[in-house]
Amino acid sequence: MTGRTLCFPSLAPFSSLPSKMGRSYRSFASQVSSLQPLAHPSSPHREDGDAEAEWDGLGFGLMPTDYMYVAKCSGDRNFGRGQLRLFGNFQVSPSAGVLNYGQGVFEGTKAHRKENGHLLLFRPEQNAMRMRMGADRMCMPAPSVDQFVNALKQTALANRRWVPPPAKGSLYLRPLLIGTGPVLGLAPAPEYTFLIYASPVGTYFKEGTAPLNLYVEEDTDRASRRGTGSVKTISNYAPVLMAQMRAKNRGFSDVLYLDSQTKKNLEEVSSCNIFIAKGKNISTPATNGTILAGITRKSVIEIARDLGYQVEERAVGVDELAEADEVFCTGTAVGVAPVGTITYRDARMEYRTGRGTICQELSSTLTGIQTGKIEDGRGWIHEIF
Ligand code: COI
Repeated sequence: MTGRTLCFPSLAPFSSLPSKMGRSYRSFASQVSSLQPLAHPSSPHREDGDAEAEWDGLGFGLMPTDYMYVAKCSGDRNFGRGQLRLFGNFQVSPSAGVLNYGQGVFEGTKAHRKENGHLLLFRPEQNAMRMRMGADRMCMPAPSVDQFVNALKQTALANRRWVPPPAKGSLYLRPLLIGTGPVLGLAPAPEYTFLIYASPVGTYFKEGTAPLNLYVEEDTDRASRRGTGSVKTISNYAPVLMAQMRAKNRGFSDVLYLDSQTKKNLEEVSSCNIFIAKGKNISTPATNGTILAGITRKSVIEIARDLGYQVEERAVGVDELAEADEVFCTGTAVGVAPVGTITYRDARMEYRTGRGTICQELSSTLTGIQTGKIEDGRGWIHEIF
């Protein structure tokens, strides 16, 4: 086995948690320096200083970083004080709820490096609230919004040398909430682990920033009514891998799913939400229980309205794809990504992309806010240092 294997209950020594953000990283670093030295044979880590990473051409794959945040909960449904620990493997029972019954939810958010070196988090409380809703649906206790946001900040700061320079990418933070206690019969796990790890990332799709080519899938449903489509449970993602692989093998970037009942309306893409635009009108499928309430989706709707577009959240018919001027996807990992073509049955529809598009305007506004280049007038950004 490569990398480090850590056991949650016995890992030592570990630091006490810094309780406040907004202090300098130097003081933070001194608090975590009592952690065990890093030993990452497979990663380009140095204990101090800059990460020895190639920042050009970053894609979306795991690059191990220094620390992860871990908190546990059993019995009283309260997560105790979490710990920053060295990033690495950990042990769970073969009978853990998450391994046997998929009891888990996750989130994704990014830290950007501002020109002044400070880190910027985007609407982290939205992720916290969504995790709480998802946990409720999956019969799991969840960390409070405060604990979640605080943990994100600690994880970002502890791994700050892994935040790519401005314009090169961001540090993707992946909060996970999983049933780690053992269960054999189908039941909620007796113990839960909340953890956050981090990885520098660039563009999500192999296309980079080039337009996507989507395939409308009719043989696989992503979500069913009154199912779990609207929550970010881990069990929503593996079931679409087969459709995604099929599409990728045929040269498409990803799959666009339709509603399972009528097959007439758009739902979402495997890892992101979908928008269509015609003239000054933008439409996106309403969050009716089968669609993930994306934080980027919600932010883009607000930005578009402020820019003077008419935005509707409604049932968007697959037949409207033939009339749309533009189509684009939104998601934390994906950002705001242009769609160049969509193939539905025998038809291949083409859309406007590039300069002067709505997609580009929304993308540059959102990215500007997230990277500190455009003033955040909405209280979306948490600046930490
Ligand atoms: C994200 O956009 O952050 C996600 O969690 C989607 C994931 C499939 C990469």
